[in-house]
Amino acid sequence: MAGIPQEILDEILNRVDIVEVISSFIPLRRAGRNFKALCPFHHEKTSSFVVNPAKQIYHCFGCGAGGNVFNFMMRYERMEFPEAVEQLAKKAGVALPKHNKDPKAEGTNSLLYKINELSAIYYKDILNSAEASVARNYLLGRGLKKEIIDDFKLGFANVKWDGLINFLRAKGINLSLLEKSGLIISKQGGGYYDRFRSRIIFPISDLRNRIIAFGARILPSEQDKDMAKYINSPETPVYVKGKNLFGLNLAKDEIGKLDYAVIVEGYLDFLMVYQEGVHNAIASQGTALTYEQVRLLKRYTRNAVVVFDGDSAGEAATLRSLDIFIEEEMEVKVVDLPDGFDPDTFIRKYGIKEFKERLNNAKTLFDYKLGLLKSRFSARTTEAKVKIANEMLGTIGKIKNAVLKSEYIKNLAEELALKEEALLAELKKVKPEASSFEPKSPASNKSAAMNPAEKLLLRLMLEESELIQHLKGNLEPADFQDERAAKIVSVIFDLLARGKAVEPKSLISYLSDDDTGEFIGEIMVSEPQHQVEGQKRQEILEDCVKRIKSHRLRLKREQLFEEIKLAQNSKDEERLQRLTQDFHQLTQRGALKK
Ligand code: CTP
Ligand code: MN
Repeated sequence: MAGIPQEILDEILNRVDIVEVISSFIPLRRAGRNFKALCPFHHEKTSSFVVNPAKQIYHCFGCGAGGNVFNFMMRYERMEFPEAVEQLAKKAGVALPKHNKDPKAEGTNSLLYKINELSAIYYKDILNSAEASVARNYLLGRGLKKEIIDDFKLGFANVKWDGLINFLRAKGINLSLLEKSGLIISKQGGGYYDRFRSRIIFPISDLRNRIIAFGARILPSEQDKDMAKYINSPETPVYVKGKNLFGLNLAKDEIGKLDYAVIVEGYLDFLMVYQEGVHNAIASQGTALTYEQVRLLKRYTRNAVVVFDGDSAGEAATLRSLDIFIEEEMEVKVVDLPDGFDPDTFIRKYGIKEFKERLNNAKTLFDYKLGLLKSRFSARTTEAKVKIANEMLGTIGKIKNAVLKSEYIKNLAEELALKEEALLAELKKVKPEASSFEPKSPASNKSAAMNPAEKLLLRLMLEESELIQHLKGNLEPADFQDERAAKIVSVIFDLLARGKAVEPKSLISYLSDDDTGEFIGEIMVSEPQHQVEGQKRQEILEDCVKRIKSHRLRLKREQLFEEIKLAQNSKDEERLQRLTQDFHQLTQRGALKK
């Protein structure tokens, strides 16, 4: 993890007891080797929240939350990682290095933050200079006040192709690093040019207020039809699209306090809403929210009010994108603005009071969607009713809570004057289609869909690191089909190669992302299929490896087979021959193994 050496994290993990920490927040009950409780992260009536003292890990079978004691603090106390570490270090009496500026650990990322910081200053200074009066007036003319423009470090990239390059070069920044930041682009014949030119610049920050990327809007006077209105930084080591919410760094406290978040689409919507005193808003930046963004938001509240631009509402895709909140067991309401308005233009025309009024009168997703469908297909004919019911069942089918689900079915039956039983029968037919937002399995039961051999092997590896020695050379991370498993295994191998111990609780902090931590939590806490010991373990291990390998081989064969069919169809003889050869080689290899 950035900055704090793993040894220190391990020291903390060894000294604090997860049971003691968690039970200072919620009552835990002993249940065999574990402790149980009602999960603090979702509503439930029976306890699916399990803490395993031996492994120092927690996991909820209901909502999938899980990890080590750091993850618990982050989620429960809504802290960032460094804060959680700090608190637990204090509790454990472990001293943290004062200036943990380990140049290797910080490395490229901290330089990228620095480049972004410097660039923001560069753009900001231009916006404040004489050459950018048009841009400044444009922003002021849109009703943004000087303080907001300053506070959000808005800037302007002028027309030059090498302005930023020269500015940063003079500061001793090396160009290949600068290219990594996405702020410059390399030219065909060598050399570089600035990515952003003649555009207003919006710095994008992470939860720790570090600038990680930029959005850039063209001036209306420059806009011609084949130029994008906005361009953004590409993905970089510090910026992953779809994993960040614009403004969350500033809104998170207020979101927690008011216990709901307002979601708008654009940078300028956010700025206007913020300027007018609504500080619990964030911007999705145009696209439908991703699974990761919703989970990020869920750290602070379970309630969202989505404000659609007047023209985008009602589009099937936009509407369906809201199902992701349902899957995450959040309450989502919808405001749809009059045609042609977005929050920014709405507030400028009708004022913030009217906007807040709209927020207060937001409709539940159920009512909103039903209203929309009813206005589209007037609910008189049977066919129309069937269409409406199907659309609605798509959303209702994603509700996890059974009581809630049946309540919605009842409502829908009433609304459409249909029998509940008929709807229930239809609901059964609705495929629990993989969510279009999260192609993998849903939040809970992350490992449910996983190949059992992979799951068992991973568990064995995590339980007994001596076993892993037998695996090296015999198995590689890529043999695992499950991406998270592959990632975990590669870290395990790496740790062993460096002579380090492999322990689930500290692996979780190595892997740093929530998902993998939860995954390890689930694997470790779920009851093993069968207790296996000693010699037997070795056999099982080998059997798992064999099964995983042959599974991979089979997938590869299937894939090759598909490619062969394609090559046949397109009469690509050369390719066909090559593929067929590969195929035979693979089949022989498979046969030899048996
Ligand atoms: N967006 C983007 N790239 C685009 C278009 C839009 O990244 N080509 C994102 C931006 O974050 C933008 C948001 O989607 O703020 C909403 O887009 P849009 O409604 O078109 O723009 P506004 O934010 O309303 O900007 P303006 O009011 O200046 O037109
Ligand atoms: Mn707008």
